[in-house]
Amino acid sequence: MSKEQFLWGSATAAYQCEGAWNEDNKGASVWDDFCHSDANTTGITGDVSCDFYHHYAEDIRLMAEGGQNTFRFSISWSRIVPKEDHAVNEAGLAFYDRVLDECEKYGIVPNVTLVHYDLPDYIGRKGGWCYDGVSDEFAYYTSVVFRHFGNRIPLYVTINEPNHNAYCNYCVGNYPPNEKNNLQDYAHCAYNMMVCNAKAIREFRRLNLAGSQIGIVQGCGPATALKDTPEYLEAVKFCNYFCNFCFLDPAIRGYYEPDLIEAVRSRGIDLSFVKQEDLDIMKDNTVDFLGQNIYSRLLVKPNESGVTAFTVNNAGNNDGTGKTARETRAISGWFETDRDPSTKLNHWGREIYPRCAYDTLMLRKERYGDIPIYVTENGHGCYDVADENGYVEDDERIEFLENYLHYILKAKEDGVNVKGYYVWSTMDLYSWINGYKKRYGLVRVDYDDENLRRIPKKSYYWYKNFIEEHKDI
Ligand code: BG6
Repeated sequence: MSKEQFLWGSATAAYQCEGAWNEDNKGASVWDDFCHSDANTTGITGDVSCDFYHHYAEDIRLMAEGGQNTFRFSISWSRIVPKEDHAVNEAGLAFYDRVLDECEKYGIVPNVTLVHYDLPDYIGRKGGWCYDGVSDEFAYYTSVVFRHFGNRIPLYVTINEPNHNAYCNYCVGNYPPNEKNNLQDYAHCAYNMMVCNAKAIREFRRLNLAGSQIGIVQGCGPATALKDTPEYLEAVKFCNYFCNFCFLDPAIRGYYEPDLIEAVRSRGIDLSFVKQEDLDIMKDNTVDFLGQNIYSRLLVKPNESGVTAFTVNNAGNNDGTGKTARETRAISGWFETDRDPSTKLNHWGREIYPRCAYDTLMLRKERYGDIPIYVTENGHGCYDVADENGYVEDDERIEFLENYLHYILKAKEDGVNVKGYYVWSTMDLYSWINGYKKRYGLVRVDYDDENLRRIPKKSYYWYKNFIEEHKDI
């Protein structure tokens, strides 16, 4: 991978696109279990999705034809180590070898996430991310991946959005194991994720893979507020402890700030799961780069309601009509979500605020210096309307991407070490609890067609042109 080449691409995740959920000896993941259970009230699953497992060659060819030089995807842990016995599934490795062959054919740089929400079911049954053995399991699985693929993969990511994953699992309760308002388990999960991150990095460093780097992907930006009174700044601080610093400080700096530990303890959270030996491993095993997903702003104010409550853009009675849509994140005494009446919301209640891209990147630089940053996801979910040929004129998505990119490139000009950018998503795929109606792809997937026909959207061509105009930045 040329150091100077800016990476322009798009992103997917295994459960959301692969399908083939039980093919070629794949084990079940917690998402397979959840989607097949009564807890999944929609009945919608990722069993087939857009069937990337069988369409990968076409999808990667379309990326290349669209001028993209990088592809972010994730490996399904359950394909590689399907069962508790730790036997490695050669067919799983072979699938990703085929994907990498295809990337190499077109000079597309793979950016590969080791876990994107889909823990194996056997770990889920033991307590998932709150199972204290999860970090040794993750170290084992990731060492299998590092040994097999080595520096064929120049960019590895340990965990996708630990913040959002922990939040949905244990606060909102919309992701398995579907626990609500459980701050004790949220803290435990967040900590175990950072032990996982550090132990995987230790395995990675042991192999000394020349030319490969390893990072982590964060799902939200730094908290911000509409006022800078001491009360508002306190709310920002606590929200950052909760959503950002408890992940990024150990991952990037190798330690937690004592104030953060104290704040968590003073809420009555039992921190007996913290072990000195884990902290030592974190100290010695930090990331090479940060992947930053950018969707919306984390706008907060002091929590005056005294309420602790959490909803996201796909929870409860929110059906994408925009009528009842609202995202809430509130911890009594700490902070709660604020709303800026001057900005628009998308159909799922998420704020559209392009400038957050600039603020996020600048604030990351302020705290973490010149760390290389890849914008690992940026995209717009909407109801696409196709014409009789399946073509979608997604001007709304183009406007979204154009406006966000303006601020991302401005942050790069202003000194942030931005190395690449990925549209979420490469093609239409499963959108977790939102199912298939909420689409993000640059390429439409016709789910009614038995061959799951791919039709590039207007945004695909727009992006191709944008890359062409910005390839030498
Ligand atoms: C990110 C995730 O949080 O947002 C993706 O990494 C996800 O997996 C994307 O699909 C969009 O969120 P949603 O819930 O609208 O699909």
